[in-house]
Formats: sequence, C-alpha cells, structure tokens
Amino acid sequence: MNVSFRLNGEDVTATDVSPTTTLLDWLRETRGLTGTKEGCNEGDCGACSVIVTDAGGARPLNACILFLPQLHGKAIRTVEGISAPDGTLHPVQQAMIDHHGSQCGFCTPGFITTMAANHLNGRTDHDTALAGNLCRCTGYAPIVRAAQAAQSAPIPAHMHDSPLLLAQNIPGEPQAGAEPPNHPTTLDGFADWYAANPDTTLIAGATDVGLWVTKLMRDLGQTAFLTHVDGLRGITTTDDTITIGAMATLSDLYPVMAEHHPAFAELIRRFGSAQVRNAATIGGNIANGSPIGDGPPALIALDATLHLRRGSETRSLPVADFFIDYGKQDRKKGEFLTHITLPRNADHLHCYKLSKRFDQDISAVCGAFWIKVAEGTVTTARLAFGGMAGIPKRAAGAEAALTGQPWTEATVRTAMTALAEDFTPLSDTRASAGYRMETAQNMLLRAWSADQGAPTSVLEIRA
Ligand SMILES: Cc1cc2nc3c(=O)[nH]c(=O)nc-3n(C[C@H](O)[C@H](O)[C@H](O)COP(=O)(O)OP(=O)(O)OC[C@H]3O[C@@H](n4cnc5c(N)ncnc54)[C@H](O)[C@@H]3O)c2cc1C
Ligand code: FES
Ligand code: FES
Repeated sequence: MNVSFRLNGEDVTATDVSPTTTLLDWLRETRGLTGTKEGCNEGDCGACSVIVTDAGGARPLNACILFLPQLHGKAIRTVEGISAPDGTLHPVQQAMIDHHGSQCGFCTPGFITTMAANHLNGRTDHDTALAGNLCRCTGYAPIVRAAQAAQSAPIPAHMHDSPLLLAQNIPGEPQAGAEPPNHPTTLDGFADWYAANPDTTLIAGATDVGLWVTKLMRDLGQTAFLTHVDGLRGITTTDDTITIGAMATLSDLYPVMAEHHPAFAELIRRFGSAQVRNAATIGGNIANGSPIGDGPPALIALDATLHLRRGSETRSLPVADFFIDYGKQDRKKGEFLTHITLPRNADHLHCYKLSKRFDQDISAVCGAFWIKVAEGTVTTARLAFGGMAGIPKRAAGAEAALTGQPWTEATVRTAMTALAEDFTPLSDTRASAGYRMETAQNMLLRAWSADQGAPTSVLEIRA
C-alpha cells in the first residue's frame, strides 16, 4: 500500500509498504533518518519520539509502535527537523546544551522532540509531559531545567506544521468484499465492510497491537485502521449525557474528565505516558479485554454504557457486562465499538491506581468507586476493580455492605471484610494475591478518609 504524509516539511509517499511497517523502522531503514532511536521498541522509553500533527494539533508519539497507515495525511517532524533549515538550534536544543541535559546522549533525540512539541503547545508541566522519556545517565533535574529555560522563547516558524491535504489521497469508501480498506473513512461503509470481513485485525492507537508486531512478531493478516473513520473520535456533552467516541484518545478524554470527574482525570494522568495517552484510545482500552486496563473500572463505576455496531445493527450494554471472562468479551464477529455514554451526574467518583512506579506503569490494582451519600447514609455504591479477577469487575458483596448503611469507618471496615469474599486475586510479577487484597481493601478506607478531608494523595503526604 501507499501512504502519504509530510515529513520535516517535505511531502512524501511511502510506496508498497506493508501496513504493519512501523514509522521507526521506515525512518531508519528507508529514509536513513537514524536520529530517531530504538530503545525498547514497545512504547516505554520515548527514545523514538516524533511530533505528529493532524487536525487535532501537534503531539509527541512513539514511532516504534506507530504503523505507517496511522500517519496517512498527517505531518511528522523528527529530531532531524527540529533545528531551523539554516541550522539555527531550536530553543530546547540550545537549553539542553546550556544546562548540561545530555551525557551518553542516546535518550536526547527523544527528549528534544518531546520538549519541542511541549514548547510548541505551551506545556509547562514538564514532570508529567516528560515522564515517557527515560534517561539513565543525566538525571532529570538538568533536563527539566532546560525545558523551563526554553519555555518562554518564541516558537521557531518552521515548527508550525500543517497536515498534508488529503482529500485526493484517501481511497474512497470501501465496498463489501473489496480489497482491505486500510484507510476506511465513512462509518457506514466501514461497518458494512467489516461485517463482511470479520477476521480483519482492527487497529486504533496501536499501543497494544503495535507490540503484537514488535515483540510477538505476529503476522496480523488483514488489517483495517480506524484512524480516519468519521464520527468515531469526538466527545460531546449534553445536559444529561457525555458521549465519548471509541477513537477518542486518553489525551482527548483528560480535559473532559478534569471538568466532570477529576478523579478519573487523575487516573488518566497515570495512564502510560504522554506519548502513550496521545495514541491510546478508550475503545482499544475496553476492546482489548485486559483485566488490568485502567479505563474500564472507572467507566463501570460511572455506570457507562457501551455502544456496538455490526453492519447496520447497533446495540448497547453496560460496560461491566462486556467483560464475560478472561479473554472473552461480549462482541460478535464483525462487531466493533462505536462510542461510550456516561450519565452526566454530580461527581461522586474516587479512583486509585496502584503500580510499582508512579508514572508509566500498568496497574497491579485499580479501584474506582462511585459512592453517593445522602444525609449520612450511602444511597449508591458502585465499586469496580481492575487486577483483582480475570476481568474488570464489580464488588457485589462490598457494595451490599455499604448500601443503605451509615457512611462511617465501621461500615467501611465491614465492606472491606466483604471484599475478601468478592475476589480471589492471583499472584503474579506485579503483586501477590495477599498484597492485592489488602491494598484493594485499603482503597475503600482511603476513599472514606478522603471524604473526611484527610490528605490521601501520595503526592501530598509528607513524612
Ligand atoms: C508503554 C505502554 C504503557 C501503557 N500503560 C497503560 C496504562 O497505564 N493503563 C492501561 O490501561 N493501559 C496501558 N497500556 C495499554 C494500552 O495503551 C491501552 O490498552 C490502550 O487503551 C489501547 O488502545 P489502542 O487504541 O492503542 O488500541 P489498539 O492497540 O489499536 O487495539 C487494542 C485492541 O482493541 C481492538 N480495538 C481497538 N479499537 C476497537 C474498536 N473501536 N472496536 C473493536 N475493537 C477495537 C483492537 O483490534 C485490538 O484487539 C500501555 C501500553 C503501552 C505500550
Ligand atoms: S523505542 Fe522505546 S518508546 Fe519507542
Ligand atoms: S543521556 Fe544517557 S540515557 Fe539520557
């Protein structure tokens, strides 16, 4: 297949490429742009960061788990395109020199591209924005000092990329039975085509699927990229509903949740890294059926509804019911996720993520609780956990122990005991069964303590 995009200001077409060619491999092996480094090849280290611009703006992404078709029609800027055409260094490059932000230098191109993207977007939350770029030898203080020093410098003119105009390049709407449409564009056309070609591997942000290729060396067979399908990405809010397109990324979702359910926003901030959140979609986070995905517990606690489509048929079900058993979801062949709806309610959500590292780590246990209290009595308790069973799951016994009871420590401790009957967690490399149970129980106590005004954020508690 052919894929067209703008690369460091030049319009290019990658011809006869396999749909699962990663941008990193193509840059290094076909274009000789070896400034973009391969560290982990699984989205963890940021050495391969590039800036990608589309109608939604510019953002850093990990090139190692980005397939070329995801870039069709967009603009890419690699580390080779960060200094001005006349060789003048970008302010973040100069600041890295001035502040001694590089030693061995292997991580430096990735830092430079992420810092240049943040500079372009006016982001100054450097600790969060750089958490997806790992450095083993410089340490973060000089790098963050460099980012701070450059943040108010003017944006160099060449950094304002515009995506390639694509109308003439995107193949038309796919027809049932036609060749694989790697860039489907209309929802109706795609739905009919996928119903007729249900063995296709769907690719959204590729933060899971990318690793099937780079780490498991899997041949994905026929693929379809959801990147350009109309109407799958938006997030809309009405008086009573929040509607989230399956292709909305975690970064898209963050500001909406910061406004309506700040605990979910805080959980999103702990999801992977900036680069991962910029690619990962909420639909992919549900569809992958992972027992340790961070989105599903929060969505279950929020009483979210999942909407699916197969051809012209649509159906809806509570997010909780989508997860049947480990590796088994309520999704028919040829059916795909279109959107998620949440009731728009006053906020009663608590979310807690426990992982070995604060940033850029998968949960050992994730707890999300909707606890509504009226006149001192719990009127609604929806308690959802990830990492406690083979699927994200509600804690029916603990919910029953809370509902209708006074919102007191004694009630919470009864619910903590009941939780031991709700789950039989596993021991694995992330945590032992005993640790999982104890921390899950303590999350309930933490929610109650937070409600009493006690500081419970690990970032705020000081010895
Ligand atoms: C470095 C790194 C860190 C991570 N950290 C976290 C973390 O902190 N928390 C967490 O929960 N996850 C984490 N993940 C996992 C991953 O980012 C998420 O699961 C992500 O939401 C997957 O979304 P995606 O768009 O990338 O899905 P993809 O990889 O494109 O797809 C995942 C699966 O969903 C299917 N799919 C996608 N969209 C649809 C649809 N609309 N309809 C039907 N099927 C669909 C695909 O076919 C595939 O089976 C991490 C991954 C990496 C690489
Ligand atoms: S090489 Fe490590 S994130 Fe891509
Ligand atoms: S300078 Fe060596 S890894 Fe960052």
